[in-house]
Amino acid sequence: MELEIRRMTIEDLDSVIDIEEESFSVPWSRDSYESEISRNILSAYFVAEADGRIIGYCGMWFILDEAHITNIAVQKSFRGKGVGKRLVECLLEEASKKGIVNLTLEVRDGNIAARKLYEKMGFVVEGIRPGYYPDNHEDAIIMWKREEEQ
Ligand SMILES: CC(C)(COP(=O)(O)OP(=O)(O)OC[C@H]1O[C@@H](n2cnc3c(N)ncnc32)[C@H](O)[C@@H]1OP(=O)(O)O)[C@@H](O)C(=O)NCCC(=O)NCCS
Repeated sequence: MELEIRRMTIEDLDSVIDIEEESFSVPWSRDSYESEISRNILSAYFVAEADGRIIGYCGMWFILDEAHITNIAVQKSFRGKGVGKRLVECLLEEASKKGIVNLTLEVRDGNIAARKLYEKMGFVVEGIRPGYYPDNHEDAIIMWKREEEQ
């Protein structure tokens, strides 16, 4: 599979929203993504494209000297093929280009696939926010990847 990782544009949003809705119990809206890519200058969003199809995406916010990964998702039928790993690598590279070496994210306690992916990429668990997610009161696991761990 020939995979290209590039910046997300407005034209990608139909596909992004399809993947968002199949991936999350509380999906972000199209307006949120539109605002992220057109108005939030402290964000960076990318898509993974294979044979002209958007099959995944990711994004982050730059907050002072930290990067917060906001979303990452891969279309169901393309999971388990290394796309998620490529997307995280892209975020790490983009942060590094800006001189940012400390990255953080939140993940649902029960989201084993995502937790394993982040662990593989060098993130470690640093905290828990009990009952953080309003839809099912699941705990949020806070993970960090810091300079000395890279
Ligand atoms: C999490 C997600 C992005 C992973 O994407 P992916 O393309 O399937 O992941 P990859 O194929 O790159 O896998 C990379 C590593 O992640 C881990 N991993 C991925 N899927 C896994 C699963 N189902 N079970 C356990 N580990 C898994 C493995 O360590 C894997 O490395 P390996 O293949 O060498 O074992 C994908 O499952 C997804 O879109 N989930 C729904 C959205 C979501 O939960 N996003 C995260 C929100 S915090």
